[in-house]
Amino acid sequence: MISKRTIDEILLVAKIEEVVGDFVSLKKRGQNWVGLCPFHEDKNPSMYVSPRLGIYKCFVCDAGGNAVQFLMNHEKISYPESLKILAKKFNVTIEEDVDKTQDEIVADSEKESLFILNRFAENYFIEQLFETEEGKTIGLTYFKERGLHENIIKKFKLGYSPEGWDSFLNFAKKNGYKEDHLIKTGLIKKSEQGRLFDFFHGRVMFPIHNTLGKTVGFGGRTLKTGEKISKYFNSPESEIYHKSDILYGFHLAKKAIRTLDNVYLVEGYTDVISMHASGIENVVASSGTALTKGQIKLIASQTKNITVVYDGDTAGIKASMRGIDLLLESGLNVHIVALPDGEDPDSFARKNEDAQLKLFLEENSVSFLIFKAKVLSKEAGKDPMKRADMVNEIINNIAEIPEVIARAMFVKECSQLFELPEETLNIQLRKAVWKKMNQNKADSKDPNNSETSSIESVATNDSFKLPTTVESRYDAVDAMEEKIILLILKYGMFEIDIEKQDNEGVYYDQIRIDQYLFDEFHDQQIKFKNPLYQDIFFEYAEIAKVAENQDKIKNYFSSHSNTDISNFCIKHLIKEDPDYSHLWESKFEIITRSVRNNINKLNNKVESTINSFKLRKLEDYRELIFLVLKEECPEELLPSVSNKLSQLNTRREEIAKLLGIVITK
Ligand code: CTP
Ligand code: MN
Repeated sequence: MISKRTIDEILLVAKIEEVVGDFVSLKKRGQNWVGLCPFHEDKNPSMYVSPRLGIYKCFVCDAGGNAVQFLMNHEKISYPESLKILAKKFNVTIEEDVDKTQDEIVADSEKESLFILNRFAENYFIEQLFETEEGKTIGLTYFKERGLHENIIKKFKLGYSPEGWDSFLNFAKKNGYKEDHLIKTGLIKKSEQGRLFDFFHGRVMFPIHNTLGKTVGFGGRTLKTGEKISKYFNSPESEIYHKSDILYGFHLAKKAIRTLDNVYLVEGYTDVISMHASGIENVVASSGTALTKGQIKLIASQTKNITVVYDGDTAGIKASMRGIDLLLESGLNVHIVALPDGEDPDSFARKNEDAQLKLFLEENSVSFLIFKAKVLSKEAGKDPMKRADMVNEIINNIAEIPEVIARAMFVKECSQLFELPEETLNIQLRKAVWKKMNQNKADSKDPNNSETSSIESVATNDSFKLPTTVESRYDAVDAMEEKIILLILKYGMFEIDIEKQDNEGVYYDQIRIDQYLFDEFHDQQIKFKNPLYQDIFFEYAEIAKVAENQDKIKNYFSSHSNTDISNFCIKHLIKEDPDYSHLWESKFEIITRSVRNNINKLNNKVESTINSFKLRKLEDYRELIFLVLKEECPEELLPSVSNKLSQLNTRREEIAKLLGIVITK
């Protein structure tokens, strides 16, 4: 066990801003630092770091703690592991208390053993490369032929695994490493006959490091050509190597990514290394596979800007578009650089002067969306069906962009490119946004999904209570949600007038009720708490596209295969309470005074329902802020919290006014 004295010392010297800063790009704000919170999908900086108090705190997801806790939560490691890393980073010598229990030793040691073994192997391969005849003549010669200087070879800790079948095996055994661990790391394999052998024998070695620079696995490249054997062998997944969370070169690139606020994404080990050799350090590789969400999260923790560098041939680009779509979905700003035909980043970097390479990358970087639109447009030619598919695909991508202005700009550009009116594209775009919400439904069912905000989780917590004075004034939230869902089911396709304002003053615009509600929900990122309503809401979005009239929609849901849905709809839709629907039929004929009044009533009903709902959501959020304040909010954060609170109060009053309600608290 690490001694109490050591722990105190670590906490004393560990600089929280440096610890968090290793993973999050921080900007100074007053006495504090702020950055994007890595514990939820953060679009605006809501993580505050206070050097004076030695803590971090996220204002949206409520994550918080000291340096030790940050590492534990971020790297998913244990308390002692976190302490050890901090001790190393801040040069504290660890004093162990001797009374460590046997269980503790075993529990701590499994992962640690694998790390130690990998580091041992890494050193062995390096030694083989530089100190043995075989390593020098085969491995080192190979690297040098590829134009790599010794400093770069050392920076990436490249090595060589000798031809013999058991050189490493014997050396590791002699040093007391257990067979179990050797197999778990994949360094040693067992043949069908039960014989152990060096998995990577006769290959040059590329160690793979995690975000902290610890060795988690290896890629080994064969030097033989023309054989059917795989060019690269890679370590298997293990307790310490989760491939989907690793980007090759990340720990060496982190700092440069942050300062340059951009990362280059390439395919392979050698691409990363050659770019470093040319002085470009903000580069990582996906290692030949499609990008995963975990990898994207790593990138997003450092920058919003990613530039994908691809081989010149368009076939390669088409193949990787899927992976890039995932990047767009996560709200990253994606650019692409296509290299000249037949070049990969490695060959291109070696052929060009450093400055030329930099210039080429900067000058040839184009927005991925536009690039994709052009590639697809060329491919679709004049075939109208293909063109329609293409437009839809691009529109789906545009729908992923979080900023409204950026979306509008892309729509404009695509309208010229596709020779289609902007309005046509906008209609498609709205549909795509609906559809996207439908997909989010599936995600939000996953309890581990980080997108479910803690506002929701606080609000659904049983112990959570609204201030009673306010509570008594409104329906329970469930009733509110029910009203909204019924409003859509009964009147979704009808139009209401809504008040809008521009330079010339107030005017009225007509909009379908369902569109209006969907827009509101989407803009405010509102979700239903009742999953049944959430399901209906999303399914409705799909159905509304094809249903000819409101009755079709009612029929559809009343005969739904999910009996919860059909029962709910039968109960509420059959009983026609003050029904305004017939009014729409007469709307286009002579509108009598009383009809007009009734239409106005419905307009008001829609607006007041959604306003009540918004108000309710605001109450939830206010309550969350009170909770934060109660938990002894650090002084530094008080201004931002109270600022938020006063914004909410203003908003609350505005809505209450619309509803004609007086708020007493
Ligand atoms: N890869 C792999 N297994 C293979 C081929 C490729 O794991 N059989 C992965 C490696 O991570 C490799 C990346 O895919 O780095 C890109 O493949 P490629 O471009 O073929 O490899 P390079 O790194 O460019 O290697 P080299 O230039 O030495 O051919
Ligand atoms: Mn290559």
